[in-house]
Amino acid sequence: MIELKQVTKKYGKGAKTTEALSGLDLTIRKGEIFGVIGHSGAGKSTLIRCMNLLERPTSGEVWVDGVDLTKLNKQQLQSKRRGIGMIFQHFNLLSSATVYDNIAFPLRLAHMGKEEIEAKVNDLLHLVGLEVHRDKYPAQLSGGQKQRVGIARALASDPQVLLCDEATSALDPQTTDSILRLLLDINEKFHLTIVLITHEMHVIQSICDRVAVIHQGGIVEQGAVTEVFLKPQHPVTREFILGQAGESAQLALQAPHDGSSRLCKLTFLGEKTYDSILSRTARESGVDFAILQGTISKIKDIPYGQLIVRLEGEPGQIEQTINKVTSEGLDVEVLD
Ligand SMILES: Nc1ncnc2c1ncn2[C@@H]1O[C@H](COP(=O)(O)OP(=O)(O)OP(=O)(O)O)[C@@H](O)[C@H]1O
Ligand SMILES: [Mg+2]
Repeated sequence: MIELKQVTKKYGKGAKTTEALSGLDLTIRKGEIFGVIGHSGAGKSTLIRCMNLLERPTSGEVWVDGVDLTKLNKQQLQSKRRGIGMIFQHFNLLSSATVYDNIAFPLRLAHMGKEEIEAKVNDLLHLVGLEVHRDKYPAQLSGGQKQRVGIARALASDPQVLLCDEATSALDPQTTDSILRLLLDINEKFHLTIVLITHEMHVIQSICDRVAVIHQGGIVEQGAVTEVFLKPQHPVTREFILGQAGESAQLALQAPHDGSSRLCKLTFLGEKTYDSILSRTARESGVDFAILQGTISKIKDIPYGQLIVRLEGEPGQIEQTINKVTSEGLDVEVLD
């Protein structure tokens, strides 16, 4: 659906040049919710703005639905952009226009008839749950309501793609979740491809199918959220995930252990999350275990569990336990 090929973006000239993207390749599939996570300054906004050519790459190609946007003239680009909606961290609404007029704005630009606009805007108001606020001005709305207006406006031209630049970063956690649910709902209802950039792992975990980690203008890791989240490889990814697990995982790693014990991280995914594999195996092999830290949560709608345990016993028995739970489908990472 979206394919970036060797995209480089430089700002400024001469000695003051900043390379925000460095030969970046990325493929986003039709109908998926794709997250891009990275620290401040990593190049996230530049990346997403290159996807509709709000920012023109210094070099490289930007393919959307079979067309290389960098090869289009102004008119062709304008028409192609109607298929690519965008929402922003600070909403970017017209402050002197009502909710209704904000949503109608792109439709009037496209010279749609008055009655058609009325019908379309009413549908969108219903979709985002703002019917009763149609005549209010942005200043009279909460942050979450403003973002709903932003979403409705972005959807007005029936796009195939929705780009979200830190769309929930200005919102409190509860409002964030309600906006994320709305995005998921829209994705499922309209098979809309959604690209979402964020610096919060929680956002990725809640609704994304796949994720890419951006660092210093390049993608350092990508894959299914279940893969990247549960088995992070790159130090930057690990930072994001450890940041979320907080102190308790760190404390677990400091638990006392000696030659007759091993620290392991066990990952349960899907239906295995609720299985008693560990205690069964330990009983059979005769090892003891202490649970030092545990999490149970969901990635999108897939349950997972993670345990940091200290296995205690003869080296052979411990080895046997690790092999057994691995063969039962758990992922085991030996931490010491
Ligand atoms: N218009 C610009 N002119 C010059 N440099 C820029 C411009 N926009 C971005 N940059 C630089 O490019 C790099 C990437 O910026 P970008 O805004 O893409 O990062 P980001 O990941 O979105 O950060 P944040 O999380 O803070 O929004 C930074 O070093 C930034 O200073
Ligand atoms: Mg940004």
